[in-house]
Order: sequence, then structure tokens, then C-alpha cells
Amino acid sequence: MGTSKTLLITGGAGFIGSHVVRRFVRGYPGYRIVNADKLTYAGNLENLTDIENYPNYAFERADIVNKPRVTELFRKYDFDAVIHLAAESHVDRSISSPDDFVFTNIVGTVNLLNAALATWKDRPAGKLFYHISTDEVYGSLGDEGLFTEDSPYDPKSPYSASKAASDHMVRAYGHTFGLPVIISNCSNNYGPNQFPEKLIPLVINNIRNNRPIPVYGRGENVRDWLYVEDHAAAIDLIFHGGKEGTTYNIGGNNEWKNIDLILLLCSILDRKLGRPSGASEKLITFVKDRPGHDLRYAIDCSRLRSELGWKPIPDFAEGLEKTVDWYLSNDKWLAGVISGDYEKYYEKMYSGR
Ligand code: NAD
Ligand code: TYD
Repeated sequence: MGTSKTLLITGGAGFIGSHVVRRFVRGYPGYRIVNADKLTYAGNLENLTDIENYPNYAFERADIVNKPRVTELFRKYDFDAVIHLAAESHVDRSISSPDDFVFTNIVGTVNLLNAALATWKDRPAGKLFYHISTDEVYGSLGDEGLFTEDSPYDPKSPYSASKAASDHMVRAYGHTFGLPVIISNCSNNYGPNQFPEKLIPLVINNIRNNRPIPVYGRGENVRDWLYVEDHAAAIDLIFHGGKEGTTYNIGGNNEWKNIDLILLLCSILDRKLGRPSGASEKLITFVKDRPGHDLRYAIDCSRLRSELGWKPIPDFAEGLEKTVDWYLSNDKWLAGVISGDYEKYYEKMYSGR
């Protein structure tokens, strides 16, 4: 990638997207960054107030499912590259209403692929369609083993199935039409700006408000947690140094059983909120398991380490402390995102569980 490019980042108002947008806007003043986002419940321009007035940044409210709107954006900006993060991203929502996942994650991705192909077909050199995906496409592991880039796809939830379908379409456009594509599949992210439907911010918010902490099943499921800024750094490295047509796994080498992670969060919050040791633990409530709940995800990211020299920076304790501090000092952000429909969502997901 040269130094003066126009980049489309989709989903840049969401959790990971906002960290990616910030990193590119600040780190590459010669790039023009266009953030296209529908602003669903998960998209929040408050995530980007610190960079919204930068001269190399523009926001476009756009639904990627709307094909004419996507075409219009490509005509307006003549993008050189796409980093595609826009998605419906929460497994529980995909179980209660899968349709949006099919529309945004599959149809939306195909709309972007078509627009990129139409724009670049006679001059693909130096262009790139970089698709951001998840390790959940590989399915679920037993107690042993890691997902590699060669692990077979075996998605188990409507969310992971829709992401798997989008990955296949991206690869098919690379293979069949010669579209320059790269995919990365990352493990669970955590950090500032994550919507409190996902485990870590939900637990922080509930402890703070003395609400029960809902642990699905026995809390034995294992996830590999990565700090969101490390994911953004990996995306930067892959965008600039990754090989066309290649897939990169990204992970934290940081496996935690849910219950152990929740106990750790309880102890951090007891300390930070000045509560007696053990107070937050009392909020732990075992609830009915998620249907089809994947047991374990864990990533082998040796390709990314050896080819591009990536390594995550904060250790987990430091990353979690930073995350908890961010939530405790951003009341306004949290109050904003849990106003509106959040209580209705919570009621629907957790009552009777
Ligand atoms: P998020 O739900 O926080 O944000 C998604 C963003 O996409 C929001 O800003 C939303 O408004 C936007 N969006 C949704 N539908 C849209 C549409 N039709 N048109 C335009 N914009 C739309 O998600 P996230 O956690 O930041 O995840 C970003 C990407 O990274 C997703 O593709 C996800 O699959 C992938 N991913 C997430 C994780 C994780 O742990 N969160 C891990 C690996 C990969
Ligand atoms: P989540 O943050 O939804 O990410 P994913 O399902 O994509 O891995 O959930 C992380 C883990 O935490 C997962 O095993 C489900 C579990 N979980 C709970 O036990 N309780 C909750 O309230 C939530 C949201 C998740």
C-alpha cells in the first residue's frame, strides 16, 4: 500500500472497528479513511469523538445490505482498499433472530465484493479487500488442540455460519475473479468500547449495579481472549504486509474458562469499588446454557508471528485492569449504550433462563 490511499472501513463505529479507525486515522495521515456504518444498536459515534474532526477522516451512514448505497460510496470515493468489519456480531442474538445475520454478514459482504470487483476489475494492482472474521468459523474444540489456518470450517451457531459463508464468498471472489483478498480470523476480543451484551463488559456492568452475573451452564467453556488494540495492531500489520490470498489467524494464547475469568473480574472489581473481598462473587448465578454452546476456542497464530512479527502487548491482567478502569471512568458512554432498548434486550435474553 502506498502512502496516499483512500480506504473504506466498514463497521468503524463498532467495538473493534472504532479501534481500527482510530489507529489508521492517527497513524496514516496520508490515507483518507472513510468509515461506513449503519449505526445499529452496536454502532456508536461516541466511540470516535477524539478523531472525528481529523482532516483525513469521513463518516458515511450506510447499510451494506443496501446495494445502490454501496455502489454510490464506491463511485464517490474510488476506494483503493476495504477493511470490512461491519457485521452482526453477537451469538445470542443470532440464536433469537438469525435473519439479520444472513442479510448483513452474507448479503452485505457480497454487495461490497461486487462493488470492489466492479471498481477494480481493470486495475486490481495495489488494491485490497481485507475481510475481518472470527475463529468461530472453525467450530468448537475439545480439551486439546488449536485452530490453525488449515482447520476445516465447521460453524455451529447462526453467527459463525454467516461469518463462514462470508469468508467463503471472499475466497471465491479471490479465486474466481482475481479480486485481491486477505482474511483474518481472530479469537474473542475485549477492551474499551465493547457493547455490554458480550461477556466481559456485561459482567463489569452487572457487578457495578449489583445485578446477578449470568453464567451459562457450569461456566466450563473456554475462550482465548485478546486485547482489542492488539487486534487492531494485527490488522494494521496484515493490511500492510500480508500476502494476497492468504488467511491469518489472530489469537491471544490466553485461554480462560468462563468461570475463572468471572472470578478474576469479581476480585478486580471488589478492589476497585472498595467492596469487601468476595462481595461480587455472591452475584454469580448459573443459568440455562446457550443452545449449541461451543465448548472451547483456541488459536494457533504462528503464521502471523513468524511472517509478520506480531505479538500481543499487554498481559491479560494488565489488559483487564485497563478495561475495568475504562468502564468505571466512562459512565456517560455506558449510560448511553444501556439506555433505549438494552433493558428490553436483557429481559428477552435473561428472564426465564
Ligand atoms: P460490533 O457489533 O461491536 O460492531 C459492528 C458494527 O457494524 C457496528 O458499528 C454496526 O453499526 C455495524 N453494522 C452492523 N450491521 C451493519 C450494516 N448492515 N451496514 C453497515 N454497518 C453495519 O462488532 P465487533 O465486535 O466490533 O466486531 C467487528 C468485526 O470483527 C465483525 O466482523 C466480527 O465478526 C469480527 N470479530 C469480532 C470478534 C469479537 O470478539 N468481538 C472476534 C473476532 C472477529
Ligand atoms: P460472548 O462474549 O458472547 O462471546 P462468544 O460467544 O462469541 O465467545 O461469550 C463469551 C463466553 O461467555 C461464552 O462461552 C458464553 C459465555 N457467556 C456467559 O456465560 N454469560 C453471558 O451472559 C454471556 C453474554 C456469555
